[in-house]
Amino acid sequence: DKGLKLYDPGYFNTAPVRSSISYIDGDEGILRYRGYPIEELAENCTFLEVAYLLIYGNLPSQRQLADLEFEVSQHSAVPQGLLDIIQSMPQDAHPSGAFGQYIYKSKQVRDKQIFRILGQAPTIAANAFLRTSGKPPVLPSNNFSYAENVLYMLDSMGNKSYKPNPRLARVLDIIFILHAEHEMNCSTAAARHLASSGVDVYAAISGAVGALYGPLHGGATDAVSKMLSEIGTVENIPDFIQCVKNKKRRLSGFGHRVYKTYDPRAKVVRKLAYEVFSIVGKDPLIEVAAALEKAALSDEYFVKRKLYPNVDFYSGLVYRAMGIPPQFIAVPRMAGYLAHWLESLDDPDTKIMRPQQVYTGVWLRHYAPVK
Ligand code: SDX
Repeated sequence: DKGLKLYDPGYFNTAPVRSSISYIDGDEGILRYRGYPIEELAENCTFLEVAYLLIYGNLPSQRQLADLEFEVSQHSAVPQGLLDIIQSMPQDAHPSGAFGQYIYKSKQVRDKQIFRILGQAPTIAANAFLRTSGKPPVLPSNNFSYAENVLYMLDSMGNKSYKPNPRLARVLDIIFILHAEHEMNCSTAAARHLASSGVDVYAAISGAVGALYGPLHGGATDAVSKMLSEIGTVENIPDFIQCVKNKKRRLSGFGHRVYKTYDPRAKVVRKLAYEVFSIVGKDPLIEVAAALEKAALSDEYFVKRKLYPNVDFYSGLVYRAMGIPPQFIAVPRMAGYLAHWLESLDDPDTKIMRPQQVYTGVWLRHYAPVK
């Protein structure tokens, strides 16, 4: 059964994690932080002292501890805007995750979350972008489709006579389909990790979006645009390729944890890019992208490492051409996160996720006050 095509565990980081921070012996009831028995630390230390030990690897001197205590106290205030958000929350608001999952037994409640998350994700993303662009908020209109509403919210400035371009809306719909789900990618695995502890769907998805943002993951869509702008012209490609081969740079939008051939989504997105440019006008960077792709695919360095364009290589240009912020890739991925969250909810074998660890730290030492 193809579905059981397993790879060498080490390849996918499913091998135990190596860490020197803490050690547990579940049979003997032992817990040590950086080699110190937890009982001794609890007996002799303050939290910030132990935080220093965990973060910096050794117990702090009195001066180091005093400095940490001072810096932490100086950074404990929050901006008024954040206080205003907290103040604006209903008084009976629960901290996310407090609901747990018992409330999701009923289909109605589940469907409500699904509709709300799929519906509000583009509205929140669009209005966050409008806010940072100094533009007034725009709510979706019932006259438009899902993708048309994204264009309407981002482009119309609330002008009711605005009509989204149907061809651009269709391109966006297809891009959303391509970005909706992708098996156990880093952010979806994060969603399932969080869900396995029993938190509500909002907590699970918030953690996933945090992982998606990384430049090695979904953040590559933005990184590709920035990389192409930095290269600027086709003439600069050989120097850039050399930097990549000297390990000074990564070729954003190339390579993949699973695909060791052309990402099937990238082929579709490349076609969509030319479709978009035929509507909104050509982005000069498309020549750079096409030349960069050609250069990399004919270079032994990339071929030997099986580095091919992934979904993000052309997505960045398509989003840029449509005036859509690259962070929008989180919007369609809500569908995948929700599907995995529900699947884990209904899986009777779901246990709380806890990868194995191999301890590589100091084995045992005893507390002594540091001067
Ligand atoms: C997404 O998992 C998913 O499904 C993700 C995703 C989804 O839909 O959810 O498909 C979306 O995240 C796509 C990937 C987007 N990221 C990027 O485009 C960032 C650039 N690519 C990489 O950094 C990298 O390719 C990863 C992170 C995507 C994958 O890294 P791997 O599999 O861990 O590769 P590796 O680090 O083991 O590299 C193997 C070799 C190394 O060289 P050597 O040590 O053998 O000499 O390939 C090199 C790496 O240095 N390499 C690259 C490279 N990617 C790997 N060299 C230059 N440029 C790159 N992009």
